[in-house]
Amino acid sequence: MNVLVTAGPTREPIDPVRFISNRSTGKMGFAVAQAAAEAGHSVTLIAGPVSLPTPPGVRRVDVTTALEMLAAVERELPACEIYVSAAAVADWRPETCAPTKLKKNVMDGVLRLVPNPDILKTIRPLKGARRFVGFAAETGEPTAEATRKLREKGLDLIVANDVTTPGAGFAVETNRVTLFFPDGRREALPLLSKHEVAQRLIECLQSL
Ligand code: C5P
Repeated sequence: MNVLVTAGPTREPIDPVRFISNRSTGKMGFAVAQAAAEAGHSVTLIAGPVSLPTPPGVRRVDVTTALEMLAAVERELPACEIYVSAAAVADWRPETCAPTKLKKNVMDGVLRLVPNPDILKTIRPLKGARRFVGFAAETGEPTAEATRKLREKGLDLIVANDVTTPGAGFAVETNRVTLFFPDGRREALPLLSKHEVAQRLIECLQSL
C-alpha cells in the first residue's frame, strides 16, 4: 500500500531568527515510516524540522510551517491509501512574520497569534476509502480526549498516550500507548520501543 506519514513539530516564524514550536522530535512518526517501509509499503514521509536520518527506502518531503505541511499533505494525499498523522502541528502561528529581526525596543511584549488549520479536519472531505490514523499526546489519562479527537477528526484509529508517564512522550526511545478504534474497542500496549509501537500499528492498519 501507499502510506503517507507526517512527523515532527512545525515551526512558526516570528521573524527571520525567532519562532514558536513544540517539543516533538519526530521519533514516533519516523518509526512509523520505517516500520511501514520494512513491511513492504511505499512510504512518503512529510517531516517538520527534526534532526533524524531518513529511514531506508522512504521518500521524504521536508516542510517547516503548518501551512506548508498542509499543502504537502494535500499534494501527496491522492496517491496514498493510508495517512498516519503523527506530526505535532503547532496550533497557532504569529499573525505576521517580520521581514527583519525585531529589535528589543520595538517589541511591546505582545505576540499576536492566529490559529493554524487542523490538517486532518481540512482534508477530511478528501478521505474517500482511505484510512486515517491520528495521534493524541495528552498530559494525563488520555481516554476522553482521544475518543473526542477520533470522532471529530473522522479517524479509523487514534494512538493515545500520556506524555507525563515515565518512558512515554517526547525525545525518548520508548512509548506506552493505547489504540482506540471507532467501534469503542481499545488496545493498551505495554511499554515498548517506538519501533515496536510502530510495528504493532502497521500490523493493525493492515487488518483495518
Ligand atoms: O494536536 P491534537 O492533539 O489535536 O492532535 C491530534 C491529531 O491531529 C494528531 O494526529 C495531529 O497530527 C493532528 N493535527 C492536525 N492538524 C493540526 C493539529 C493536529 O492534523 N493543526
